[in-house]
Amino acid sequence: MQLKIFKDYAALSAAAASEIIDLVKNKPNAVLCLASGETPKLTCILAVERAINEKIDFSNITFIGLDEWVGIPPDNDGSCHHFFDTLFIRPLNLPDSQVHLFDGLSGNLQQEVKAMDELIAKKGGIDLVIVGIGMNGHIGFNEPGVSFDLYSHVIDLDEITVTGGQKYFKQATVLKQGITLGLKHLMESKKAILMANSSKKAEVIRKAVKDKVSNELPATIMQQHKNGFVMVDEDAGSLLK
Ligand code: GLP
Repeated sequence: MQLKIFKDYAALSAAAASEIIDLVKNKPNAVLCLASGETPKLTCILAVERAINEKIDFSNITFIGLDEWVGIPPDNDGSCHHFFDTLFIRPLNLPDSQVHLFDGLSGNLQQEVKAMDELIAKKGGIDLVIVGIGMNGHIGFNEPGVSFDLYSHVIDLDEITVTGGQKYFKQATVLKQGITLGLKHLMESKKAILMANSSKKAEVIRKAVKDKVSNELPATIMQQHKNGFVMVDEDAGSLLK
């Protein structure tokens, strides 16, 4: 794993957007997986802007959404689906056939999990995954205590995630479970980037980068990724010096 510290959120986001642009320029049928959330928001906006300005064809990529809240409809503003749709899929006009998001409303979540794993295997794995980090060190919904050996799965949410997750919703929302790609997918991805910004993430980033690798802080697994990057702004990286 390599650490990269950027001056601010804008510089961090521009660098992450460049990763997406370079990937698709070099491999038009790349498999790209993104997290939703506050962190990658500007990355998506900048990547879309560049794709349009530079006329880069995204129509052949395979787009995978990292995770979703179980029980939350796709048209709810707080859903991951809504984030991807608004900030990436629609602005880039990605064909439906190329987009793969977990359906948090599915009556058969195990089928969702199986279908995602089969798709990723069939595509030969993920070329680039860009993830964020939760305040408890989660990646996607790989909560503290999760097995490092899991592919996609459904998981009970940690208290910190349930409380912190309220920020995405207009009104208080019952959040109990998540459906997520597993850390095995992250580790098998050809390139993995964990992004974080703001001083509120400084302590969890310090732990992710410096602490012993342990499923008690799932993001520590990034230390073992052969082509893994932790990209942070100066605020999130302030405890690393
Ligand atoms: C959320 C999501 C993650 C996200 C993380 C950080 O709960 N499950 O995919 O990366 O927590 O979110 P944010 O970027 O909003 O801080």
